[in-house]
Amino acid sequence: MKIAPVILPLFGYDQLACDLQHSLGYTLGKMSIHRFPDDEIVVTIDSVVNGLEVILIGSLDHPNPKMAPLLFAAETAKTLGATKVGLIAPYLAYMRQDKQFHPGEGITSAYFADLISHHVDWMVTIDPHLHRWHSLDDIYTIPTRVLHAMPCIAAWIKKNCDDPLLIGPDSESTQWVLELATKLNAPFLILEKERSGDRLVNISIPDIAAHHHRTPILIDDIISTGTTMIGTVAHLNSLKMKPAICIGIHAIFAGNAYQDLLNSGVKTIVTCNTIEHPSNDIDISSLIIDSLRSGF
Ligand code: R5P
Repeated sequence: MKIAPVILPLFGYDQLACDLQHSLGYTLGKMSIHRFPDDEIVVTIDSVVNGLEVILIGSLDHPNPKMAPLLFAAETAKTLGATKVGLIAPYLAYMRQDKQFHPGEGITSAYFADLISHHVDWMVTIDPHLHRWHSLDDIYTIPTRVLHAMPCIAAWIKKNCDDPLLIGPDSESTQWVLELATKLNAPFLILEKERSGDRLVNISIPDIAAHHHRTPILIDDIISTGTTMIGTVAHLNSLKMKPAICIGIHAIFAGNAYQDLLNSGVKTIVTCNTIEHPSNDIDISSLIIDSLRSGF
């Protein structure tokens, strides 16, 4: 009989770990991180992992301070005899720098992938930002599994909105918007976006002539500074559309982004719980549980 893996939640991402414990019978392990006065850390795993598989679970938004704890947790588990170390990262960071945009820049998505691949044996994530990389296999050398939040988002829209007009703010959102449009049999628009800085985007004006009676639903994978959504909402407001519903998979919300987007005249902002945030209203835990039911 296969002994249940030990699951270790990182960065306070406890709920999904508890769901996995209850649904799949995984053992919820105990781990602590001590921070020394000089900010170095030591990871202590207080559960038995010798001879067992360990699964680390935590979202990798705001990744830089999380990297040392993550990599040290993986290595500590191996030192203590774990047979394998898997990573469930519902949000996978560093996917957007997928080419050299300016002279002299590094391609951090590749370096990050290299680092993770070196320390864990497999990884599960949800809708990573695959744009110029077509698959995680382009940069990750470990087995990876990509899960998709759109079925959960479609169910939310079906329950909460009768007359949706789906709007993707840029060409990258086409993949998600098309899937939703098919599932919901709803009209959609894909806009064009030019980004000239972290908080500077120019978004094309949507042609909403045939859709005035509908509720605009903006769909994007990541809401970071909120600039993309706020720019799109401004167009919709000036065209006298109904207040928009903004749906993001990953609720990064850098700085004041959440408040700024709320203040822009939206009806509501809804995200998936890939990153814990007050806007979470779409639960993706069943995706991960179902995917791991047959192991990795
Ligand atoms: C970029 O290509 C992504 O799909 C999102 O559109 C982007 O990350 C949103 O960023 P922000 O909220 O900073 O405009």
